[in-house]
Amino acid sequence: MDGSGIRRLGVLGSGKGSNFVAIADAIAAGTLPAEVAVVISDVPDAGILRHAADRGLPALHVHPGGFRTKLDEEAEHRYRQTLLDHGVDLIVLAGFMRILKGGLLRSFEGRVVNIHPSLLPSFPGLAAWKQALDYGVKVTGCTVHLVDQGIDTGPILAQRAVPVVDGDTAESLHARIQDAERQLYPAAIGALVRGEVTVRGRQASGFRS
Ligand code: GAR
Repeated sequence: MDGSGIRRLGVLGSGKGSNFVAIADAIAAGTLPAEVAVVISDVPDAGILRHAADRGLPALHVHPGGFRTKLDEEAEHRYRQTLLDHGVDLIVLAGFMRILKGGLLRSFEGRVVNIHPSLLPSFPGLAAWKQALDYGVKVTGCTVHLVDQGIDTGPILAQRAVPVVDGDTAESLHARIQDAERQLYPAAIGALVRGEVTVRGRQASGFRS
């Protein structure tokens, strides 16, 4: 069935969970040959945990420690252990607003994916749709990439372009980008799970959107 040895997804998110819902729906529809092993959030009342619990999936708040934008060392250990305990093969970042580093990344090297709401390498970091709007670009989009030690710098697996239209607000543009994300992310994860994607250095090939 799958050609990569990847089957069990560990989804990390901090927000409302629309990407998670798209992934869970693709699994339920049989178009994404994987299962969600666990959903973890750093935010106790995050929508993503509610969506996971509604689907009967393990949904855990794991305390992120004292920093605002990353996990402290003990928290990183807690996240790593929780993911290992649930037999996770692939970490799927779905709006997780903290940087992953060190031991956690080493344990899952090449097996952490993220979706970012811009066409990287443009507009890494926070509120990328607002950065694009403020800059005045006419096309932006979303990017699925492997996670490395940098911020939004890992090899790019898939991208989808989204137009910026006259009169767009940050909210309207983000909503249009999120529509694209909900299509692109399950499709890109599916290609990874089926072993269709090859990554050599920065060059990833094999994903057909
Ligand atoms: C998504 O738009 C995702 O691209 C973004 O957070 C949102 C989460 O929405 N991620 C980042 O900005 C990461 N740097 P969701 O909780 O509805 O999936």
